[in-house]
Amino acid sequence: MTTIFITGGAGFIASAFVRLLLAEQPDVRIVNYDALTYAGNLENLTGVDEVRHVFVKGDICDRTSVTSAVPENCEAIFNFAAESHVDRSILSADEFLRTNVIGTQVLLDAARAKGVRRFVQISTDEVMGSLPDNSGLFFSEDSPLRPNSPYAASKAAAEFVVRAARETHGVDAVITRCGNNYGPRQFPEKLIPLMIANAMNDQPLPVYGDGRNVRDWIHVDDHCRAIWLAYEKGAPGEAYNIGARNERENIDVVRSILNALGKPESLIKYVEDRLGHDRRYAIDPSKAETELGWTPRITWEAGLASTIDWYRENQTWVEHIRSGDYRAYYDRMYGARLNASGSNPA
Ligand SMILES: NC(=O)c1ccc[n+]([C@@H]2O[C@H](COP(=O)([O-])OP(=O)(O)OC[C@H]3O[C@@H](n4cnc5c(N)ncnc54)[C@H](O)[C@@H]3O)[C@@H](O)[C@H]2O)c1
Repeated sequence: MTTIFITGGAGFIASAFVRLLLAEQPDVRIVNYDALTYAGNLENLTGVDEVRHVFVKGDICDRTSVTSAVPENCEAIFNFAAESHVDRSILSADEFLRTNVIGTQVLLDAARAKGVRRFVQISTDEVMGSLPDNSGLFFSEDSPLRPNSPYAASKAAAEFVVRAARETHGVDAVITRCGNNYGPRQFPEKLIPLMIANAMNDQPLPVYGDGRNVRDWIHVDDHCRAIWLAYEKGAPGEAYNIGARNERENIDVVRSILNALGKPESLIKYVEDRLGHDRRYAIDPSKAETELGWTPRITWEAGLASTIDWYRENQTWVEHIRSGDYRAYYDRMYGARLNASGSNPA
């Protein structure tokens, strides 16, 4: 069995990664370490195998807790844990720098102390800043890091501490930089789940600025498969841009959701733009395709339709988050048991 350590596994992307690995990698055992911030939700892990997957509640900035939670025979650390919402970083950046930068350093130190073979840092295309409209330009792995939001700056800084650990201490690390993810279980503050939830409830759909900002959308399962391939096949010290060649203007995404739900466009409400709003992200994924043998499997049309179906069929999931009930759920289900753990479950 291969034991791996995943951080942030009660969040959107890493919980999908856990499900994918348990389904497709029978020899993998997972220690899933998450602080359960507002974005962490144990309901995201409902039904997962409890033999090959162990959940540990803890903060990646807590050196003692991290060191005791990383198993002795750990093959890889996958660092997904982060403060991930740009709007929140505009309101206050402190937590972003703490978790995304200090937390990454703590994990790198633990990787060295525990002899972990490989460190996979889950980064974002946002570290590369913004591309001009209709410029025909794409982000490549050689694009300079030019983050524009506090969130993106903290993720860029995390990439630099990963690089420094490699150059200084020889940590075997790879970095993935993905575009905007969508799929089931995404916290409903992000564009697609927010619009689906509001549309289902006939509430206004707030669209920033002129709605013409472009994002490069990818289904979360395609992203997760790319992360696994980067772990298996990526060259030490390399970054891999992950994208599905699927640029969409925000307003077109919103219209597609309204159409799919049979709701009127009169629900769209243009609101004052986000401060420093990046205009366009577009990824050239050629390196991942060539060197990792990765290609996306899920088309935008099929992925969006299945995502909308998921939110339609799981309205209580959304309601729990929106009402904060999932915290009570957590206490009921796990309470003292999780707080008491922190020890090495492997
Ligand atoms: N969502 C996207 O479109 C996207 C795109 C590219 C890259 N990423 C990156 O992927 C990763 C996961 O993103 P997501 O959208 O699933 O985020 P998310 O906000 O849904 O989940 C983040 C998880 O990290 C946990 N966490 C936060 N602070 C922690 C701490 N100090 N210690 C331990 N756990 C902590 C939270 O409890 C939560 O479960 C992030 O690193 C993000 O930067 C996201």
